[in-house]
Amino acid sequence: MTHHRSTWRNRWTFMLATAGSAIGLGNIWKLPYMIGVNGGSAFVLVFIACILIVGIPLMMTEILLGRRAQKNPFNGIEALAIEAKASPYWKLLGGMGMLTGLLILSFYSVIGGWVLYFITEAIKGSFVDIKAAESTANFNDLLASPLTLLFWHTVFMCLTMGVVARGVNSGLEKANNILIPALFFILLILLGYSMSVGDMQAAYHFMFSLDFSKITPVAVLSALGHAFFSLSLGMGSVMVYGSYLQRHVSIARTTIYIALADTMLGLLVGLAIYALVFANNLAPNAGPGLIFQTLPIAFGNMPWGSLIATLFFMLVAFAAWTSAISLVEPTVAWIVENTKISRKVSAVALGLAVWLLGITVVLSFNDWQHVKIVFGLNIFETLDKLTSTILLPLGGLLMALFAGYFMKRDHVQDELNLDNRGFKLWRITNNYISPIAIIAVFLYLFGLVK
Ligand code: PFF
Repeated sequence: MTHHRSTWRNRWTFMLATAGSAIGLGNIWKLPYMIGVNGGSAFVLVFIACILIVGIPLMMTEILLGRRAQKNPFNGIEALAIEAKASPYWKLLGGMGMLTGLLILSFYSVIGGWVLYFITEAIKGSFVDIKAAESTANFNDLLASPLTLLFWHTVFMCLTMGVVARGVNSGLEKANNILIPALFFILLILLGYSMSVGDMQAAYHFMFSLDFSKITPVAVLSALGHAFFSLSLGMGSVMVYGSYLQRHVSIARTTIYIALADTMLGLLVGLAIYALVFANNLAPNAGPGLIFQTLPIAFGNMPWGSLIATLFFMLVAFAAWTSAISLVEPTVAWIVENTKISRKVSAVALGLAVWLLGITVVLSFNDWQHVKIVFGLNIFETLDKLTSTILLPLGGLLMALFAGYFMKRDHVQDELNLDNRGFKLWRITNNYISPIAIIAVFLYLFGLVK
């Protein structure tokens, strides 16, 4: 079926969109609390190493797959496999990625809903002079109320699908062109605020003083998993965005900018958050409640707290929104490129399916809290662990192997357009280092090595 495909207007819009996909709840909600529970600086160091050694080369791989195929991940990998005379069943890798995206969105949207709820709380001034016990109770009350969670999950899904339904140029491109610069602007305000009223020195010490003794296998494992999640790798979002990229754009250079923006943003937000947390003598290791429970206490006891809290949660919401869009785009592209169903109808139908699955996530925080799926994990925890520790790394591993060992070298080189040294470097990391790192993590995960 021939189908008109859109392209990004220029390299800049591709960069904004892919950075928009990468920068999300992973950077602002997950990374700071993971740093907190994994001992601070040691985790930061391993995380940066994972981004450099595994993340950047794999992002290049994913973009090159997309741009060469010029199709959605499912048909794209099939076409590349046929071109490389490999089994067309490689297309299942694309299918797995699309499914992974929808699974992630089902819980991503519920957490995105928490963020929207917190924007309204901040505007109402609910954090003013709040004490630790009250803040914990607020957050727990939210989690205990399925209807409130459902309402905000629904709003978040509508926002996401509203953008996707409008298409690549009038939807994705426009949203990212506005939201990502706005996000960096708010980050600057937040940083300025944290520098003037927070304890930056303590935050800096916590995040960057090198203490190798704290590097544990679990920290390495979660850092690698998080590098995938943070750069949106292994599920086809970056691949489908790459498929809308014009041929003359350098993949290596754009990838480095995107990875830098993503990592810097995560670390700067972390610094801003911990500076406020330490200035108020709060604990850094609160886990998933860090920005929802601990941070409001800090905001509530500082000058201009409500305004800054509103801006902060808006920043989180923008980041979550632009990532959520990229979680459905691969499947929407697949439907539109294979059937006569319009983009609008596919977006609504997929939105509905993900929304329904999201309801089970909503309930896993309250009525179904004790429903365990595997290894004593509830529905939310199962979806989170299954996607970020298994499906994304597995997707990334298979993409690396496909590009490295099945595709023709000339075809890869043609897309990457690197000099000899650059290409060698990419090949070593893509063909050897990344696969070995991912396999080592899997062996550890399944208890095969200790
Ligand atoms: N990278 C996003 C974040 O850090 O929040 C999450 C994500 C988006 C993961 C898109 C995977 C993906 F394909």
